[in-house]
Amino acid sequence: MIQNIIFDMGNVLISYEPKKYIEQFADKQDIDILYETIFQSIEWIQLDRGSIEEKEAKCIFYDKLPERLHMTVDDILNNWHENLHGKNEMFYLVKQLKSKGFNLYLLSNTSKRFYHYCKKIPALSYFDGMIISADELLLKPDLDIYRRLLDKYRLVPEECFFIDDYMLNVEAAIFLGMDGFVYKNNIKSLRRRLSRKGVLDKDLQAVIFDLDGILVSTDEMHYKAWNQLAEEIDIPFDSEKYREFRGVSRMKCLELLLDESKENYSDAEKAAMAKRKNDLYLKYLQSLSEENIYEGARELLEELQANGILTAVASSSKNAYAILEKTALLPLVDIVADGNEIAQSKPDPEVFKLAADKLGVPYESCVVIEDAKAGIQAAKSGNMRAIGVGQALKDCTEMDSYFPQIKQITLETLKRNKVH
Ligand code: BG6
Ligand code: MG
Repeated sequence: MIQNIIFDMGNVLISYEPKKYIEQFADKQDIDILYETIFQSIEWIQLDRGSIEEKEAKCIFYDKLPERLHMTVDDILNNWHENLHGKNEMFYLVKQLKSKGFNLYLLSNTSKRFYHYCKKIPALSYFDGMIISADELLLKPDLDIYRRLLDKYRLVPEECFFIDDYMLNVEAAIFLGMDGFVYKNNIKSLRRRLSRKGVLDKDLQAVIFDLDGILVSTDEMHYKAWNQLAEEIDIPFDSEKYREFRGVSRMKCLELLLDESKENYSDAEKAAMAKRKNDLYLKYLQSLSEENIYEGARELLEELQANGILTAVASSSKNAYAILEKTALLPLVDIVADGNEIAQSKPDPEVFKLAADKLGVPYESCVVIEDAKAGIQAAKSGNMRAIGVGQALKDCTEMDSYFPQIKQITLETLKRNKVH
């Protein structure tokens, strides 16, 4: 049984792009020579091994480069890591593995510079231990550096899973009895492998929530705004018609409304109407608060977070962030995908796929919770499990399971209703 996950750093936890780092300090025509002389040098490897000091390396770089570049060498050595940042998809994986109870370790070939920039990698805050090559005077794939890690943290190789972008490094881990994965920027194939290993649950890695009608009750506010607009332009509108608006983008809703009219409206007129509806809606949203969260919704988000299930909101609304902020739900979701980021609204799966992609979770490992038929259709065509909630879906046959209210859904029910 795997209990420990060991990560490489460069191109796994962070993207490592030396030429980009150089670009910040050097002119275009000097990038290649600086790259070759610094990042592709023996000295760079010796810095990683801890067998040379940075000031010695600097003198060697000075000797190899014209004097006009010496200041640039200083800038690069002192600051190359300035714009370095962690990979989001790895952050979510690390966070998830930690809350599922795995021990996490870093085994990295890197120089002592690491201690200047490690705070920039949020994923590292979840780690239980690390071995840095420059501290050990050893480099992967030397078996001894792996042994240092195993000894220091008393790890059993058969309980370790090692992730590195360099095949020889993974091979060394396997030689010592660990399992491993060569990571080539494909987070979903890593997750699939971890599912097969029993580390992650294949069917339930992320829950993607619709917003309006699932987490927050905004239905009445949308309804009142559309109703007022309909009155102003003298088009018939009622709650029956409003049913079709659920889950659908603002412009699409307007088209549905204008279907009831014989008039032909220009694009500019339509844009003005959509703006009018949104202005009215925003006025109603001012009174939105935590009171508008559906019973049980916050508790479900909290339960999922506490149990290592990632959470997302995927909404056709362009007001999603405002709603999540006003209801204080934003900290309870890992990511948001909203109407501002997509070209096709539900029933197209785009917004759900975007949410899953941001988290790095395979579609088949996502569960969607929706109150609109368009949303259920979107989830199913995105190859995700779809759970329907609310009266409007009572007779819908396309979803995998149904609950009248969100408060009836718990982690336990999500685990039980696994069949796609
Ligand atoms: C969806 C609602 O969440 O968002 C729809 O169910 C609404 O009724 C759509 O039309 C777009 O919302 P907004 O806030 O961008 O007008
Ligand atoms: Mg909805």
